[in-house]
Amino acid sequence: VDIPGFYRPGEGKSSRRPTARLARKLAFSLAKRFPNDGGMTALVDHLMVLPDDVITMGRWSYCDNPPQVHSYPTPVPERIVIGAFCSIAKDVSFILGGNHDGRRVTTSPVHLLFNGEGYEQTGEVSGRGDIIIGNDVWIGRGAMVLSGARIGDGAIVGARAVISGTIAPYAVMVGSPGREIRRRFDDITIARLRASAWWDLPDDVLRDAIDLLSSRDIETFLDFVEPLRRGANPTLAASH
Ligand SMILES: CC(C)(COP(=O)(O)OP(=O)(O)OC[C@H]1O[C@@H](n2cnc3c(N)ncnc32)[C@H](O)[C@@H]1OP(=O)(O)O)[C@@H](O)C(=O)NCCC(=O)NCCS
Repeated sequence: VDIPGFYRPGEGKSSRRPTARLARKLAFSLAKRFPNDGGMTALVDHLMVLPDDVITMGRWSYCDNPPQVHSYPTPVPERIVIGAFCSIAKDVSFILGGNHDGRRVTTSPVHLLFNGEGYEQTGEVSGRGDIIIGNDVWIGRGAMVLSGARIGDGAIVGARAVISGTIAPYAVMVGSPGREIRRRFDDITIARLRASAWWDLPDDVLRDAIDLLSSRDIETFLDFVEPLRRGANPTLAASH
């Protein structure tokens, strides 16, 4: 997506690397201010990873600036999978892994701190799985999405919301913990929009329907898109 100022993982590498370097530098300077047998230094190594190692994004999805991805090692590496036509505001953060085990005597990762043993072996810190975000999802400024979250198609995540678990399609979520305040449309309309999977249609079809697509007349849009789907050539969706 060639919109100046917008960021897509995998693009504009040079602008992203300094950020990661800066974050690492900051983390190390914190480690120096809080020396503790070297444990902190071991931890900061895991604090920042480059987003494009772990994120995939569908077409026409964008982030206002590179999202912060905090990724902690887990036995199976966790990923972020984002659908098409998603809008991700500034300062959104994603946490992969990083859940300390509250059922143990201590939540401190003592094996790592004392012996340098990885979370993968000790299970002291684990994750809840990949973060999966559907299509046409809007994530507001400063939201935080936790490991294992699954956000349905069409959902809205409010500014500063903290999201975990499964979020229904077209739900509007606010707050911490994120709570659903409403759905964008009634259940039948939501089912029809999802069945239409308009986000899979080729760009030229969507371009022709651009005014309908951005109108509030959902019914007329569905009347336009549903016949297309019924007669859909299965290769149509893949041809963009
Ligand atoms: C989530 C959002 C879309 C909801 O908008 P809305 O449907 O018009 O909701 P309303 O303003 O009617 O608010 C409904 C309730 O949710 C609360 N609420 C709304 N947004 C909230 C938020 N981000 N965090 C906490 N509570 C929020 C309101 O206080 C209100 O509570 P009440 O019913 O107790 O009075 C919007 O508030 C928001 O957060 N937008 C994100 C903006 C943004 O980040 N833009 C960045 C550029 S992309």
